[in-house]
Amino acid sequence: MKFVLNGASTDVMAHPMSRLLDVLREECGLTGTKEGCGEGECGACTVLVNGEPVCSCLIPVAQVESADVVTIEGLGDDHPLQHLFMNEIGAQCGICTPGMIMAAIALGPSPTLDDVKIALAGNLCRCTGYSAIYRAVLKWREMSDVNVSASATR
Ligand code: FES
Ligand code: FES
Repeated sequence: MKFVLNGASTDVMAHPMSRLLDVLREECGLTGTKEGCGEGECGACTVLVNGEPVCSCLIPVAQVESADVVTIEGLGDDHPLQHLFMNEIGAQCGICTPGMIMAAIALGPSPTLDDVKIALAGNLCRCTGYSAIYRAVLKWREMSDVNVSASATR
């Protein structure tokens, strides 16, 4: 099964009906993507497929053949959103955090608080009460939007 994983061509030996979540964690060794419910309810397993956030526990790996898949590892170790989740106390036990971040990454520019709530509506957190997560995402978008407009005026 061939697809692009975090920017690199990947060829995995897996049953076509294997869950993408399992293939990522077990065949590819990318354990940043978490399993919460395993039934599409919690969003902990969110990854991007062709830029769209999807629950990797729900889709068979056959569905990503030739697609572009990005996991939390694809953001690198120093993504500003990761720092903001820490600084704003948006991560406690951390199980939901990779999925929250991947869902947030797909947000468009200049989101409102309501936009963030809608984008993360499929991602459950039992620890933080959500406010810190929303604050982290909004701060990140503000920083990103400032950087974009600064480079546009150069
Ligand atoms: S583990 Fe996939 S939605 Fe909960
Ligand atoms: S930080 Fe524990 S579930 Fe969100």
